[in-house]
Amino acid sequence: MLDENYPVIDYGKGVYLFDMDGNRYLDAASGAVTANIGHGVAEIIEAMQEQAKRVSFVYRSQFTSEAAENLAKKIAEWTPGELNWSFFVNSGSEATETAMKMAIQYWQELGIHTKTKILSRWVSYHGITMGALSMSGHPARRARFVPLLEEFPVINPPYCYRCPYNLEAPSCGYMCAKELETVIKRIGSEQIAAFIAEPVIGAAGGAISPPKDYFKIIKTICEDNNILFIADEVMTGFGRTGSMLACEHWGVIPDIVALGKGMGAGYAPIAAAVASEKIMEPILAGSKSVMSGHTLSANPQSCAVSLAVLNYLEKNKIMDEVESKGVYLKNQLEKMKGIYSFIGDVRGKGLLVGIELVEENRTKAPFPRTANLTQKVIGIAKEKGLLVYPAGAGIDGVNGDAIIISPPLTITKREIEELVALLKESFTTLSNLLNTGRER
Ligand SMILES: Cc1ncc(COP(=O)(O)O)c(C=O)c1O
Repeated sequence: MLDENYPVIDYGKGVYLFDMDGNRYLDAASGAVTANIGHGVAEIIEAMQEQAKRVSFVYRSQFTSEAAENLAKKIAEWTPGELNWSFFVNSGSEATETAMKMAIQYWQELGIHTKTKILSRWVSYHGITMGALSMSGHPARRARFVPLLEEFPVINPPYCYRCPYNLEAPSCGYMCAKELETVIKRIGSEQIAAFIAEPVIGAAGGAISPPKDYFKIIKTICEDNNILFIADEVMTGFGRTGSMLACEHWGVIPDIVALGKGMGAGYAPIAAAVASEKIMEPILAGSKSVMSGHTLSANPQSCAVSLAVLNYLEKNKIMDEVESKGVYLKNQLEKMKGIYSFIGDVRGKGLLVGIELVEENRTKAPFPRTANLTQKVIGIAKEKGLLVYPAGAGIDGVNGDAIIISPPLTITKREIEELVALLKESFTTLSNLLNTGRER
């Protein structure tokens, strides 16, 4: 906020940040679900220096670099199926926007020029640039620009806590996934290039994780209707949920995947749209160029940093422990439900955990928007030296509060215990505040 006085950060070490006034913060948000290996890792800083000594920048239409080539190779190795072609950009928004453009171009290279729409879901966030925002089902972020945006969000999310059909998985028959088929029929598959979704919904939904067969059904509907499937793994990629891609939990391989955040882990701005061989074949046989890109795309400096981050993840086997750490954290949070009636739902996957906050967990009634509850919780926690990430919740994008707990994947068990203790303190303060408000 422009009227807020932010603390000035001095340095970071591991899961902690220290400000100039000597305050310590446990970064249980990884900034914005980004600092996946924690702060101040010496190996990354060394890699940064080594690359800077060689060359920091070359332009992608003139040169490539060892760092960019090795990074692309590593991503191809780590991703499932034939997701072999990385197009490097600088932010998650650019990654989803490039993915969207690749999908449209794929059909054009095959001689099909009508398939230009990208379908998406409500309760989603794919980025702030106009293409990415057009795909985002995030009413608050769309509001100012609606006349300039495409109406790409068309179906409900797999939001079991507030099922739009008032059903329960798996007996629900996955109505929310099957909506996609209905919408495709209404619009006409000949108009649609792709469907995009976040495997676990981040900022818009507070870590909404789908029921088991959801993505299998979605992928089948896409294939049956000649529509590409884009996974937005900007938040979930690179081990955040315990596997390289969150899609892997459900055995689904996307045609194109958007990556960002954890890719540079906050040490450098870098992101990517990664396309499968199927997508690249007609492009390689046709125009031989993807119509996207930026001046700093594939700059050696960011690529070297990202490569060092991936090597660090690999060498220290960090992904292997994410699921068990996530279960441990979630168990502690579940226990808090009995203490604080405003904890409605605890959800998520791996170390992407969401807590939906409600006025009363028996009724699931949300706090009114005017209560500004998410920001209150974030503020209280920060005062106590704990950083948590704000998220939206609620099916209509109006009322609904959630926070995301997404510490660096390197967090230890002792640090998780400290995180939980600080969160408890924060919730107790919130509880007192709410009770005082009620008595008045
Ligand atoms: C799932 C998802 N996609 C895209 C983006 C946009 O990324 P960036 O903020 O790096 O542009 C975000 C950012 O929060 C995200 O969570």
